[in-house]
Amino acid sequence: MPTLDIRALTVNYAVQGGTLQALAPVDLKMEGGDFVVALGASGCGKTTLLNCIAGFLPPSSGEILLDGRPVKGPGADRGVVFQKHALMPWLSVRDNVALGLRMRGADSATRCRQADEKLALVGLEKFGDHAVHELSGGMQQRVGIARALANDPEILLMDEPFAALDAQTRELLQEEIKRIWQETRKTVLWITHSIEEALFLATEVVVMSARPGRIKARFQPQFAMSKDSGVVTSAEFVRMKAEIFGLLREEALTAQQQEAAIQYQRVVLQAFTDVDNALVAYNSEQRRRTSLQNQVGQARRALGLAQSRYRQGISDFLEVLTAQRTVLAAEQQLADSQATVSENLVALYKALGGGWEQTYPLE
Ligand SMILES: Nc1ncnc2c1ncn2[C@@H]1O[C@H](COP(=O)(O)OP(=O)(O)O)[C@@H](O)[C@H]1O
Ligand SMILES: [Mg+2]
Repeated sequence: MPTLDIRALTVNYAVQGGTLQALAPVDLKMEGGDFVVALGASGCGKTTLLNCIAGFLPPSSGEILLDGRPVKGPGADRGVVFQKHALMPWLSVRDNVALGLRMRGADSATRCRQADEKLALVGLEKFGDHAVHELSGGMQQRVGIARALANDPEILLMDEPFAALDAQTRELLQEEIKRIWQETRKTVLWITHSIEEALFLATEVVVMSARPGRIKARFQPQFAMSKDSGVVTSAEFVRMKAEIFGLLREEALTAQQQEAAIQYQRVVLQAFTDVDNALVAYNSEQRRRTSLQNQVGQARRALGLAQSRYRQGISDFLEVLTAQRTVLAAEQQLADSQATVSENLVALYKALGGGWEQTYPLE
């Protein structure tokens, strides 16, 4: 029976302006046959945790040991099911389920037998020849589960597998999962938002804190072995539900504040960038205008000179006309620049005002 041992796992993501700590040190040990459900506010690092275990994401520190060996990448010993099924639309249901077996070189008869066996386990024995799109969302999700089971992984990693389903389908599938688990006693790490789902399925519930996610509380509900769907109304179930609800509520509020802070930071950064850009544009046009003013001055002096030379009979009228044109052209450029400076000034005020308004919203 596999043991999954997560020790002081942390994950940092590189983000604009620094790092974002997604997981604070997380310690979690799972023995063979455990059904661990992780509950936590959105953004607390649940998917990050699962991706590390699946081998899709390296830890920033700490380690993940599977049967004593560090996880270095994905492997057939871990089966992953995502929130939205990742089935191949051009393959039949059966071939989707058999995909992993095929990649591992199983012959066609074995593939077919094993795929059909897993399809029967999720109640889809009649649908092997169907195309994926002919199945409802709930059925597709079941195919995903059958596919994960077909590889006979030691550990199943499920990232909110029922999140996209309607409540009734979800409840039916929860009962099915429970039956499958009771039959196979797979080790499961299951992520969900639903407290009821967690209590109904889990041998252990871990409640995660807001980001950076760490394990805030653990519960050992006693309903996983029950075959009675009525457990959800038992006094113990209701009591645990209320307690976990309270814990999650606190974390959800913290998560909301974090989101607001990140949004605020983004707006302020953007406002600074806008002001910077506007200021650079304004200053550079100002410098151009100053140089154009000098050019106009020079052109006017040249014109005065040409006029007096003409009066003295030294030069002809053409020279005066040419000088006149140069003055007009320089004056036109100056006027254009003048207008651009005004526009840039308006943009600068807007950048300042816009940032200000959004940074300190009026109530
Ligand atoms: N690739 C990434 N780069 C940067 N930040 C990320 C990345 N993936 C997730 N995050 C951030 O890490 C935090 C945890 O994300 P995630 O594990 O997906 O949370 P959960 O699954 O609990 O909703 C969130 O704040 C999310 O925005
Ligand atoms: Mg997630």
